[in-house]
Amino acid sequence: MVKKAFYLRIDDDIELKLPDERDATALFQLIDTNRAYLRQWLPWVDYTKAEEDERAFIRICNSQFQDNQNITCAIWYRNQIVGSIAYHLFDWANRKVEIGYWIAEPYQGKGIMTKSCQALIAYAFDELKLNKVEIRAAIDNHRSAAIPQRLGFVQEGVIREAERLNNRYIGLRLFGLLEREWRAQQ
Ligand SMILES: CC(C)(COP(=O)(O)OP(=O)(O)OC[C@H]1O[C@@H](n2cnc3c(N)ncnc32)[C@H](O)[C@@H]1OP(=O)(O)O)[C@@H](O)C(=O)NCCC(=O)NCCS
Repeated sequence: MVKKAFYLRIDDDIELKLPDERDATALFQLIDTNRAYLRQWLPWVDYTKAEEDERAFIRICNSQFQDNQNITCAIWYRNQIVGSIAYHLFDWANRKVEIGYWIAEPYQGKGIMTKSCQALIAYAFDELKLNKVEIRAAIDNHRSAAIPQRLGFVQEGVIREAERLNNRYIGLRLFGLLEREWRAQQ
């Protein structure tokens, strides 16, 4: 049985939708025009060389969505795709998930990602009944770390040399938010 696609409207301007293969062109163009900016922090950018790579990625995401393994969303802002946010690999046994994200450079600084994260956090606790949401940000990626900090996450530590990025190993700051902490903030 095929599930319904994932969709969340956040406000008048922002929507989160599971992309389908027709979105590959827009997503690839966005990545391609923001390549230099995105590759500073995202190792997969260099492997996304053609629209077909993005289409293949969307196919994998959709299949993993059907299997309850992850949910990857395109972020739509005023009817255009501007970025992506995802629950990466649900850990159902421990009832936790990690959120990852990117947005095109011209759309930074508008709060789009903070609001998108807030929506996925609420959905994780209210609808998916998870106990914990995690976010990892490279040690020097201050804009990325500012999002969990703004949303009341606790920094739990630094995972040393956790990722190979542009031919060097980088450490990741691990941020966590528990369901009871989130409820206390509401
Ligand atoms: C990390 C990344 C998503 C952060 O994007 P961002 O635009 O800074 O995040 P937000 O959309 O939450 O915007 C926050 C800014 O909007 C402002 N803002 C405006 N309205 C806002 C609102 N309603 N709510 C929250 N912030 C708001 C904030 O004050 C903040 O401004 P500042 O940067 O001047 O302090 C973006 O820099 C990015 O995609 N980078 C490249 C890829 C990447 O690093 N991904 C993360 C890998 S871990």
